[in-house]
Amino acid sequence: MAREVAAVILAAGQGSRMRSDLPKVLHRLGGVPLMAHAMAAARVLEPAHLVLVAGHGAEAVSAAAAKLDPEAKIALQSEQKGTGHAVAQALPLLDGFEGRVLVLYGDTPFIAPQTLEELAGHSADIVVLGFEAADPGRYGRLVVGAEGLEKIVEWKDADAATRQIALCNSGVLAADAGLLRELVGRLGNDNAAGEYYLTDVVGLAREAGRRVDVVTCDEAETLGINTRIELAAAEAAFQSRARAAAMEDGVTLTDPATVWFALDTAVGRDAIIGPNVVFGPGVTIESGAEILPFCHLEGCHVSAGATVGPFARLRPGAELGGDVHVGNFVEVKNSVLHEGAKVGHLTYLGDAEIGEGTNIGAGTVTCNYDGVMKHRTVIGARAFIGSDTMLVAPVTVGDRAVTGSGSVITEDVPADALALGRSRQVTRPGLGARIMESLRAQKKERG
Ligand code: UD1
Ligand code: CA
Repeated sequence: MAREVAAVILAAGQGSRMRSDLPKVLHRLGGVPLMAHAMAAARVLEPAHLVLVAGHGAEAVSAAAAKLDPEAKIALQSEQKGTGHAVAQALPLLDGFEGRVLVLYGDTPFIAPQTLEELAGHSADIVVLGFEAADPGRYGRLVVGAEGLEKIVEWKDADAATRQIALCNSGVLAADAGLLRELVGRLGNDNAAGEYYLTDVVGLAREAGRRVDVVTCDEAETLGINTRIELAAAEAAFQSRARAAAMEDGVTLTDPATVWFALDTAVGRDAIIGPNVVFGPGVTIESGAEILPFCHLEGCHVSAGATVGPFARLRPGAELGGDVHVGNFVEVKNSVLHEGAKVGHLTYLGDAEIGEGTNIGAGTVTCNYDGVMKHRTVIGARAFIGSDTMLVAPVTVGDRAVTGSGSVITEDVPADALALGRSRQVTRPGLGARIMESLRAQKKERG
C-alpha cells in the first residue's frame, strides 16, 4: 500500500518584487490564485493533510485557501525566518502523522502531479526535486556524491566551484514525517542570509546516515514567479498548454491563441469554441456544445448540444440543459435553463428557472433584486415570454403560459394563461402627422 502523504505549501513570503499590496500567491494565474496551482497538484495525491503556511497577508491568503479547499489547514508564520522555519510552523498541524511530507512552494505553479507522485513514492528518507538550469543564477546548488545527494548549498553561501554546478534545487522535497520533525528542530541560522534553511536537512540527514536522493524534472516545472513580468510569461505558458491539451482532447478551437482557459476548465470532446472566448474558473462544457465568439463564462455548466453566443455572458450558477440556446447580449446568472429553452437576444436571467422548451423573447429581464434582497423567477415548460417582458420576482409563470410583449409581470401567471401587464394602446387617426407638421413649422419660425 502506498504511504500516506501530507502536503505543506509555503506561501508566507511577501513577494516584494511584485510591487503589490496583494500577497504574491493571490495574484491570478489561469483565472485562479497562483497558490491554487500547487494546491491542485498536491490534491491529486489525495493527501491526508494539506497545510498552507501563510504570513504576509495571512488573512486574505487563509480566506482564499478556504474557498479553494475547505479542508486545507493554515499555519501562521508571522515572521519570515526562512524555509526551514516555515516548515517548522506547519509541523504541529501534522501531529501524529507518520507518512511522507511533501514540501512545495505556493509561487511555483507548474509542478506536475506525476512528479509529486514520484517524490512521494521514492524509497529514500529524503528526496529533493532538482533540475538542470539553463542559467543557474542564484538557485541553491545540489552537491551529489557517490551515495546520492550530499548537501544543498545556497548561492549566497557557495564558493566559486560550487556555483559552477548546474544541478539546482527546485525547493520541492519529500521527507519522512518523523525524520523531518527531528531535523527541522535542529536547524540553525548561521549562514549568509541569517535564515533557517530547509535545505540544511539534507546535510543533517546524511550525517545521521540516512539515504537522501535527487529526482530531476524539466526546468519549466520548477518555474517560480517573482515579478509581474514572470507572472505574464507564466500565464502565456499556462494558456498555451491549456489550449494544446484541449485540442488534444478533441475540442475544436477556431483561433486557439484568443481562447483563455482557467485552471479547472473542462471541455468535452467535439465541443467547438470560437475566437475570443474567456473561461473564468468553474466551467464545464459537455461534448458537442458550441461557444460562439466573444463569450465570457464563469462557474457555469453547458450541456451537450447547447449553443452560446456570440457575445453572451454566463455567470456563476448558470446551468444550461441539452440543446439550450443562449444568444447575443444575454447574461445568465444563478439560473437553470432546462432542455431546449431558448433565450436569443438582449436578456438578463438572474435567479431563475426556465422550463423545457420555453422561449424567452428579446429584451426580457428578470427583475431579481429589490435593492436589498434577491428573488426567484420560475417559468414552466413550453411557455412563451413576449419581448421586453419585465418579470418582477418573486414570480412564477406556469407551463405553456404566454406574456404579452412589454408586460411588467408582478403577479403569478397560471398554466396556459395569457398575461398582459401593460397599458392599453390608444390610436388617434391623423394626429401623428399633424403634430409633426406643427413642430416643423415652429422650427422654421425660430430660423
Ligand atoms: C529557495 C531555496 C533554494 C532554491 C530556491 C528555488 C532555501 C533555503 N533555499 O531559495 O535552494 O533553489 O528556493 O526557488 O530553501 N517562504 C516562507 N517563509 C519563509 C521563507 C520563504 O513561506 O520564511 C516561502 C516563500 O514565500 C516562497 C518559498 O518559501 O514561496 C521560497 O522562498 P524564497 O525566499 O523564494 O527562497 P529562495 O531564497 O529563492
Ligand atoms: Ca524564490
